[in-house]
Amino acid sequence: MHNDFLDIIDYTPEELQSLLDLAAALKKEYQAGGNQPVLKGKVLAMIFQKPSLRTRVSFEVGMHHLGGDALYLSPNEIGLGKRESIADIARVLEGYVHGIMARVFEHEHVLELAKWAKIPVINGLSDYSHPCQALADMLTIFEKFGTTKGLNVTYVGDGNNVAVSLMQICAKLGSNFTIANPVDYDMPAEAIETVKPIAAASGAKLSFLRDPHEAVRNAHVIYTDTWTSMGQEEESAKREAVFPPYQVNRQLVSEAREDVIVLHCLPAHRGQEITDEVADGPHSALFPEAHNRLHAQKAVLYTLLKDK
Ligand code: CP
Ligand code: NVA
Repeated sequence: MHNDFLDIIDYTPEELQSLLDLAAALKKEYQAGGNQPVLKGKVLAMIFQKPSLRTRVSFEVGMHHLGGDALYLSPNEIGLGKRESIADIARVLEGYVHGIMARVFEHEHVLELAKWAKIPVINGLSDYSHPCQALADMLTIFEKFGTTKGLNVTYVGDGNNVAVSLMQICAKLGSNFTIANPVDYDMPAEAIETVKPIAAASGAKLSFLRDPHEAVRNAHVIYTDTWTSMGQEEESAKREAVFPPYQVNRQLVSEAREDVIVLHCLPAHRGQEITDEVADGPHSALFPEAHNRLHAQKAVLYTLLKDK
């Protein structure tokens, strides 16, 4: 197994399936009365360069469920790469704690933390990817459809960090992945190229479209995310002019399969990428998905920290 959880692409399909199985087992155990304190005495440092609700709370609560502790280090606290070099921060923290979870602007920064720290580093979102989110998303999809193979997962919107990790986990686990996004908002070309052989091996079909209506046809899952990610705020007016045809609304959902579920990593910008009617409607799995962050990340924490 790995020391770190940096990107979905680093894990084999079997390892990802094991994490999903463990997440489901930990969820069941928790719901039946509580988890064993397998991480007793273990401490996770959580570095945040950006705001968070789900990631912060689910990691902190997840550590408590497993008998350990978590420390929140706010954006102003440590000045990653500014007050102090990333290499120094990594080597200091590894003397205090057993693992680091980091939410960063530049993906390179989480890779650099992992390079220097001997303890596990977990990517809690970067400008490139959001692997913890994808694991929780796949747990939600698996719970609904009982499989990951042969499902049609359609992402509508910006080709961002959430889209990249979702594409990677679909390619690994044999779900067909389709994205419909506007011109100039494609996923990074490198992310697409590296995933192609993985999809070929699992039998997942990849489709890169512009038309959201074509993309959702026969979809089991429709996924969307904000049009403007954290760190892109100065582009929001420009983006709001381009993205309205990509709104996930009742009409678009009615063009998918009858049993389609709608996912969104949240926070949602209701009235922009998703309407209230869909977010709160019969196809929405937004809150089970958010809750699954807890269970998916507990599987990651258990796997990476139990022997540290
Ligand atoms: N989906 C997600 O990562 O939410 P937060 O930004 O609130 O952590
Ligand atoms: N794409 C969004 C996800 C937030 C959880 C962002 O990076 O802001």
